[in-house]
Amino acid sequence: MTNTQNIPADKLVRVTFQPEGKTVEFEYGTMPYDHHGKPMSFLDVAENFDVFLDHACGGSCACTTCHLWIKEGDAGISEADDDEIDRLDMAADQQLNSRLGCQAVITRPGTYVVEIPKWNRNYVSEGKPLTLAEGK
Ligand code: FES
Repeated sequence: MTNTQNIPADKLVRVTFQPEGKTVEFEYGTMPYDHHGKPMSFLDVAENFDVFLDHACGGSCACTTCHLWIKEGDAGISEADDDEIDRLDMAADQQLNSRLGCQAVITRPGTYVVEIPKWNRNYVSEGKPLTLAEGK
């Protein structure tokens, strides 16, 4: 977690990625764009803070590997456009709170909790996929 002592409360963005429970915090409007997904998308946040969120298409709304469930903070997140809605229809385990991590953008300070579905949980948290065949 970053040092949040100097961030005014009304500018604080707090994002928790479940099921790991990793929480990251930063000042709204200061996070650099990591060139993955839309700026200030959950994928952008994940990439900035070394949280592994798969993104096979690079964040261009052309796959469903960045699928997330929004658990908290829905009111502060951009609405899904038609392209995202069409793409989400192809996602496994789609729920009412499903979004694509590369398309769902944080639009204001606040607290956000998202859950990465289980097919992405086969990866360890610090950005490295598990190796199934150890160097053989
Ligand atoms: S990374 Fe492919 S749709 Fe989000």
